[in-house]
Amino acid sequence: MDQKIAELRTELRRDYDVYAQTTIAEHLSELADRREKCPVSFSADGGFWVLSSYDDMSSVLRRNNRGFVSFPNMPDGSQAFGQKRMIPLEIDGSLHRQYRRLLDPHFSPEAVAKLEPRIRGVANDLIDRFIEKGHCDFDPEFAFPYPGTTFLALMGWPLEDAPKLTKWVDVFLHGIPGAPQEETDKARAEASAGVHGYVMELIEQRKQNRTDDITSALLESEIDGEPIPVDDLFDLFLVMMLAGLDTVQSVLGQSMAYLARNQDKWAEMFSAPEKLEPAVEELLRWASPAVPTRNVAVESAKVGDLELPQGERVHCPLGAANRDPKYFEDPDEVKFDRPPKPHLTFGLGAHRCVGVHLAKLELKIAFQELHRRIPEFRLADGVEVEEHLGLTWGVENVELVFAPGRRETA
Ligand code: HEM
Repeated sequence: MDQKIAELRTELRRDYDVYAQTTIAEHLSELADRREKCPVSFSADGGFWVLSSYDDMSSVLRRNNRGFVSFPNMPDGSQAFGQKRMIPLEIDGSLHRQYRRLLDPHFSPEAVAKLEPRIRGVANDLIDRFIEKGHCDFDPEFAFPYPGTTFLALMGWPLEDAPKLTKWVDVFLHGIPGAPQEETDKARAEASAGVHGYVMELIEQRKQNRTDDITSALLESEIDGEPIPVDDLFDLFLVMMLAGLDTVQSVLGQSMAYLARNQDKWAEMFSAPEKLEPAVEELLRWASPAVPTRNVAVESAKVGDLELPQGERVHCPLGAANRDPKYFEDPDEVKFDRPPKPHLTFGLGAHRCVGVHLAKLELKIAFQELHRRIPEFRLADGVEVEEHLGLTWGVENVELVFAPGRRETA
């Protein structure tokens, strides 16, 4: 290794545990300390640089394809899909642009607005399953199945397959909590085979019988003048499904835990129709769950005040950018009337989230329907909300208690 980078790595060493067993608030305060003392630090344990300021993260993400690439998009350099790159998350340049040109029209505000009745139906169907009890474990009963089922609606896949598919995806992503490793590995392999078999069968069915949805549209699309190979289509569908799950789930879970403790804010969100959208935007800023990584792809690239050589990995915990006091006064506070300043929750540059409008619509509808049917709620006594870091920051154990209501469907 070049002498200069070795010295820099030693001088700016401050280890960083992506999976630290700590709360999100504590972790953000550790990142705030870095921002003040060493805004670009080197985690020798993981072999990557950690950014902590809004300016540094936005500058790196903006320069995707111009100095940086997104493969591998894991801070430790590992490859989630083995030898293959995640499509479109880990491909760059012209190939990536072609995929985005195909995908973006299906995720425009106008395109996702058409899904509104179905998304509202999904929200109400889930609420119906717990409303009579007067309590729910919000994560498994709403926050997790909601984006999964919405994804099926988006793709034009049968909504009744949601329980099967979300179960597989849950095991695939989280294993079996508390089970021995071997059992988790076995269940994961089965879940992975289940998802693969299911999606491949759907692709085959759609090839025979095209419908008016995104699945059929992608089957008819071309990349580099050729139809997309079936294996690549599978990878693309999987990334689209996974990208919208943990993220929407996390923002919903964190928000409901916060709103349970701050019912005045819940009331404020609905005090006038125009209040809801800025409130969703602020909850997105505050709950920011994603942590992308970029890699220097040219001889050297500027990161903060440093010049980093090719191959260095740069990790962007976006939550820290969104709590940068340079742009957000009292950054840890949730304030629905902040002056508009774009947050980085959906990333920036070439890989900025495909699903921005869908995610915002999902959140808006979820809050509206929850508010309509559960106007007041609190956290259950004696239950501690648990938080995790990792590749998507989030919460579990959001046990909510409320006055029982009525089901709306038979
Ligand atoms: C609150 C919810 C969401 C958050 C916070 C979020 C966040 C992000 C972020 C930060 C990225 C960029 C990653 C990077 O630069 O490496 C991204 C990319 C992506 N997101 Fe989302 N996302 C959300 C919801 C969704 C939904 C609902 C979908 C679609 C069903 C989706 C699909 C994607 C896809 C396909 C990419 C890859 C884009 C590319 O590489 O060009 N996301 N998302």
